Amino acid sequence: MVSTEAAVVIDSFVPSTVPASVAAAAAAVAVVVEVEAIKTTESMLTNLNQQSILDFDKGDPTMYEAYWKSIGEDFKITISASEALSYFANPKSFCWFMLPKLEQEIRNLHNVVGNAVVEGRHIVVGNGSSQLIQAALYALAEPLDPSSPISVMSAAPFYSCYPQIAHYMRSGLFKWGGDAHAYDRDDQPYIEMVNCPNNPDGELRGPVVNKANGMLVHDLAYYWPQYTAITKPVDHNIMLFTMSKCTGHAGSRIGWAIVKDSHVAKQMVKFLEISTIGVSKEAQLRAISILEMISTNSCSTNFFEFGQFVMAGRWKTLREALEGTDILQVPNFPPRHCNFKRNYIECNPAYAWMKAQEGINLEEVMKEENIRVRGGGTFGCPSNYARLSILGRDNDFDQFLKKLPSIVKRLAHSKF
Ligand SMILES: Cc1ncc(COP(=O)(O)O)c(C=O)c1O
Repeated sequence: MVSTEAAVVIDSFVPSTVPASVAAAAAAVAVVVEVEAIKTTESMLTNLNQQSILDFDKGDPTMYEAYWKSIGEDFKITISASEALSYFANPKSFCWFMLPKLEQEIRNLHNVVGNAVVEGRHIVVGNGSSQLIQAALYALAEPLDPSSPISVMSAAPFYSCYPQIAHYMRSGLFKWGGDAHAYDRDDQPYIEMVNCPNNPDGELRGPVVNKANGMLVHDLAYYWPQYTAITKPVDHNIMLFTMSKCTGHAGSRIGWAIVKDSHVAKQMVKFLEISTIGVSKEAQLRAISILEMISTNSCSTNFFEFGQFVMAGRWKTLREALEGTDILQVPNFPPRHCNFKRNYIECNPAYAWMKAQEGINLEEVMKEENIRVRGGGTFGCPSNYARLSILGRDNDFDQFLKKLPSIVKRLAHSKF
């Protein structure tokens, strides 16, 4: 299975086999009743699955649903059958499939938040930042026409999808090169993925290899005020952002790259042309409406205030629940000055990077408590680490907190 965030979602909701007794009962009734019975059974099984397994493995940003429900129908978009038929959105632009208004809203949002330099930079829209990571790797590696694939690496613990993205096409241009801390070649070009704040551990990081032949891609999916202090507008060669983690609209599949070099930006567009001939106009229209709403602050509650409030509450209750025990640890983050808030704020990452005693398989221990988390191994780390997503719904998070004492007890008695 390809364990991207989305693939994990699909996997977790595959219903288990219908028991024979349920199937036999359904077969005995008339057709209409049968259909209803099957529907009811399926929904019961789905409910059972959802009740029994708490899924904190995926970084699915459903916590934002409450905010978007609260603003009601105000930012609804409707698209008629005659609209947005063409592949093209702006034939005069190098990124010909991007709606000009979307580019404007992306620039506005960064100027309002102050998290990235956009002046004089090129914007490329993509089908999520996942596609833009591939586009960036292609754009950096292809012009070098390498005789063997260029190594792509990131410092462990790294985002678990980087190895998959770099490896799954068995490209002749690039290959996954592992933990950047272990890279020791001086003579070869390489690409380092720098994720800041880092998924899974929330650390603010820069490149670790720092050799002459290096090329960098900065993945800034979580550089937004609900997760961390905005200390400056960052200005790197290739910077990636996504609606998924900024506004919670992961389903729209809209990400964007801010790129300094026009040739690199054009190469990224070429990748998108070949792989998907652009990006859905419906998704772009929705993104325009949402980004404009956030930048103009046209709702009673500021979106980032809401995000900060929820994230801070979750981290506070998690820390309180773990107080007085070192059986299960989560990192601490010093308060930092946030230019957006104009104040010192606590940093509240999207994931809790949990650490148990060495030798324990934390993912397995959690599984025994019917809790799904992502084990340390997928991030290039030992199995006593695991990632817990903080981005889910309130109810699930509350249930996790209720289970924590029994998890801690189980860890205390774990044999390894
Ligand atoms: C660090 C990081 N980069 C990129 C992505 C991909 O996001 P998207 O939904 O835009 O493809 C994720 C998703 O979890 C992520 O955590």
